[in-house]
Amino acid sequence: MAGIVVRGLSVHYGERLALQDVTMDIEPREVTALIGPSGCGKSTFLRCLNRMNDTIPGARARGTVAIDGRNIYAPGMDVVKLRMTRFPRRSTTTWPSAPGYGGPTGGGGWTSWWRGACAPPTSGTR
Ligand SMILES: Nc1ncnc2c1ncn2[C@@H]1O[C@H](COP(=O)(O)OP(=O)(O)OP(=O)(O)O)[C@@H](O)[C@H]1O
Ligand SMILES: [Mg+2]
Repeated sequence: MAGIVVRGLSVHYGERLALQDVTMDIEPREVTALIGPSGCGKSTFLRCLNRMNDTIPGARARGTVAIDGRNIYAPGMDVVKLRMTRFPRRSTTTWPSAPGYGGPTGGGGWTSWWRGACAPPTSGTR
């Protein structure tokens, strides 16, 4: 399925459970709002969508997040490309231009560039 598919996502910071068993689908181009009291895990959830929680010592995620059918927590995922692809800043980003690599304006466009960030599809979680 295209879009973002989250299944059973839980996040701990050390011993502290910050996000518990979140399951949701976000369709392509769908506008979604996260609403809740301070500390309920909105930012934690968003960070999971481009694996920015990986940069926080003691943070660990369980569950599955798939974007356009690829599990972004699968081994071999290129998190740098993942973050650039999901949150591009066109004015400052140097797009890859190697032959066959694709980019937003060449090669196979967004899709091929995004695919390049992913390992072959695998099931399960890390
Ligand atoms: N870097 C961190 N280390 C330890 N605990 C954290 C860290 N970041 C968030 N938490 C904890 O995880 C829980 C969720 O926090 P989060 O920041 O995701 O909530 P939030 O919904 O975005 O809150 P706010 O509305 O204030 O922005 C809270 O209990 C918070 O204290
Ligand atoms: Mg927040």
